[in-house]
Amino acid sequence: MSSFTASRILIFGGTGTIGRYITSALLRAKPAFQQVVLFTSPKSAQEKAAQLNEWKAQGLSVIVGDLTSEADVTAAYKGVDTVISAVGRGGLQHQFELLRLAEASESVQWFLPSEFGTDIEHNDKSPNERPHQVKLQVRKYIRENLKRLKVTYVVTGPYFDMWVNAVPDFEVAGGFLPDQKKAYVIEDGNGKVGFCTMSDVGKFVAATLKAPQESFGKALKVQSFVVTPNEVLAEYERQTGAKWEVVKTLLDEIRAFETKKWEEGHPLATLVTLRRIWAEGGTLYAQNDNHILGLGPEALDSLEAAVKKALAARR
Ligand SMILES: NC(=O)c1ccc[n+]([C@@H]2O[C@H](COP(=O)([O-])OP(=O)(O)OC[C@H]3O[C@@H](n4cnc5c(N)ncnc54)[C@H](OP(=O)(O)O)[C@@H]3O)[C@@H](O)[C@H]2O)c1
Repeated sequence: MSSFTASRILIFGGTGTIGRYITSALLRAKPAFQQVVLFTSPKSAQEKAAQLNEWKAQGLSVIVGDLTSEADVTAAYKGVDTVISAVGRGGLQHQFELLRLAEASESVQWFLPSEFGTDIEHNDKSPNERPHQVKLQVRKYIRENLKRLKVTYVVTGPYFDMWVNAVPDFEVAGGFLPDQKKAYVIEDGNGKVGFCTMSDVGKFVAATLKAPQESFGKALKVQSFVVTPNEVLAEYERQTGAKWEVVKTLLDEIRAFETKKWEEGHPLATLVTLRRIWAEGGTLYAQNDNHILGLGPEALDSLEAAVKKALAARR
């Protein structure tokens, strides 16, 4: 495997929230990958036809199929050396079979499971965090069952583009409301959080594929920037030329809110848990792995650029 080069790539979930940034980045990569293939459902193929046509013009091949069908997946794996799964939370459990078939395939050498988020093995509390459970099971399955296939997890922390927006009725978990010039910060707002912008997630995945030997067997922790909510607030105030109202929430209040949302079976309970984990320092490292991929600050989004984009998105 020392001479392995990722050249024929297959991506599942590549039209999704983060998948589309990954697909776009792979198509833009220089030097280009020999082949980038997207496996998508008939529903997405129909609903996202305009996006798919745009990508096809840039060299993308598209396979329409059912990712729960052994025959469809086995056929799609033919000749592919690298598989990226960016399936959504609702589809994470399908990865056991995608991995089993990849291990059995003659060509697939490398698999990047759908992580692209919080570090699920960060500390001794991580094994009990509810949103981590299926991803933890996927890692366990890989450890216990795969002998041949190489695996890399790309751990990005929260997407700044999403985290920055306070969610209606969930403002206590943190976020910003540019229209009201209002900021919801946790505790004193000085807790650091490591973020990726969604566009940088695409760059990090493309860079990972260019560095197989350095990435095999690792959970790569990558970050666009590490900042505090107060620094984000200061940047918003600078760019809007206005003083914002600040609402502070204690971590214990968020924990109580989180418990209530899980008891109610609320679909956004996961969001509250993740925001609590990030506020507790769940994205912080002595050193991240950006250097392994050769991506320095000049190649990545800055806080200034990310806030500018967040403001532009609301106009
Ligand atoms: N760090 C963060 O802040 C953050 C935020 C959001 C998500 N994430 C992570 O990023 C990864 C991808 O999530 P996403 O939100 O981008 O995914 P998504 O948009 O919900 O779904 C991505 C694609 O997965 C495929 N899929 C197949 N079966 C599925 C099923 N049963 N349920 C859901 N999707 C299914 C679909 O592709 P086709 O129709 O094309 O087959 C879908 O378009 C996940 O691991 C998630 O935890 C991280």
